[in-house]
Amino acid sequence: MQIRLLTASDVRSALSMRGAIDAVATAYAQLAAGKATMPLRVKVPTEKGVTLLMPAHLHETGDFAVKIVSVFGENPALGLPTVTATVMALDPSTGLPLALMEGDSLTALRTGAAGGVATRYLARPDAATVALFGAGVQARSQLLAAATERPIRRVLVVDPFAEAIERLRAEVATWPDAPEVIVATSPKAAVVQADIVIAATTTKTPLFDGNDLKPGTHVTGVGSFTPEMQEIDAVTLSRARVVVDQREAAMAEAGDIIIAKAAIDAEIGEIVNGTQPGRQSDDQITYFKSVGLAVQDAVAAAAVLKAAEAKGLGTVIEMS
Ligand SMILES: NC(=O)c1ccc[n+]([C@@H]2O[C@H](COP(=O)([O-])OP(=O)(O)OC[C@H]3O[C@@H](n4cnc5c(N)ncnc54)[C@H](O)[C@@H]3O)[C@@H](O)[C@H]2O)c1
Repeated sequence: MQIRLLTASDVRSALSMRGAIDAVATAYAQLAAGKATMPLRVKVPTEKGVTLLMPAHLHETGDFAVKIVSVFGENPALGLPTVTATVMALDPSTGLPLALMEGDSLTALRTGAAGGVATRYLARPDAATVALFGAGVQARSQLLAAATERPIRRVLVVDPFAEAIERLRAEVATWPDAPEVIVATSPKAAVVQADIVIAATTTKTPLFDGNDLKPGTHVTGVGSFTPEMQEIDAVTLSRARVVVDQREAAMAEAGDIIIAKAAIDAEIGEIVNGTQPGRQSDDQITYFKSVGLAVQDAVAAAAVLKAAEAKGLGTVIEMS
């Protein structure tokens, strides 16, 4: 039995963002069609933290993986990150492990890809200006996904952490056809100009006033992950067509939706499957909320593994 070990750098260089978006679209489509097995996250509290197990199996594509995420608050004092993740990809026909890969890089890739799927189906085709709230790991990946799907020319960034903005600027500068990165003078100044608004922050309170959105804007939110956290305000949700990754998860975890008592119009997988329409008019405001699902990890892990095998990335270990 052999297993391929993939580091963060292997994961990042294996698969393009477009490949990740295509993979995550298939995950959403299978989930919405009832063709995925995704048990609830298992939480294992330990003395100093909590570890979450996130399994998923996709019936059509056969992708099968378990992500292990640990949140240990005292780790920074030891020089270690608070949140760490690893993903084990399994063979659906034998149950044998195929690969073990670094999970933070995979999470950034699949979360960016979630926003990319929403951009593909919901943003206006001519969207060129992004208001980017947050300049951290997820924000950078969301921006890459938006730029993969639309001809983005300008990015107005809002983040109180200047170092994060400089890291974002340095990374974007390495992209082919890189958009211009501008520090926004205020949340309002960014939102009034935006065709796409991306929220990828750790805020607990709304980032901007939904009255400032132009007709036709698409909004993606990936940050708030508890019923009490609100990243996008109720005005935005009342003006928007509301699309989520999964109804059940959004109604249990997404403060944006729970606090606004918003009606959910569609799951993104229903749009990918064609049972619900994508953008319906040039003036429609659309909102997509991703809380993050294990099916994304399973399809992304499978796509990364396939690409890594083709490129000869990683280290293959003989286990028996
Ligand atoms: N939906 C998903 O699948 C998914 C997956 C991974 C992470 N997340 C969530 O995404 C969020 C961002 O994660 P990350 O890894 O990028 O974190 P990060 O710490 O790398 O970046 C967060 C950034 O948000 C900025 N920020 C905080 N408050 C802000 C505000 N009011 N306005 C503008 N910027 C603000 C911070 O300065 C920081 O630069 C977290 O809440 C995380 O839990 C969601």
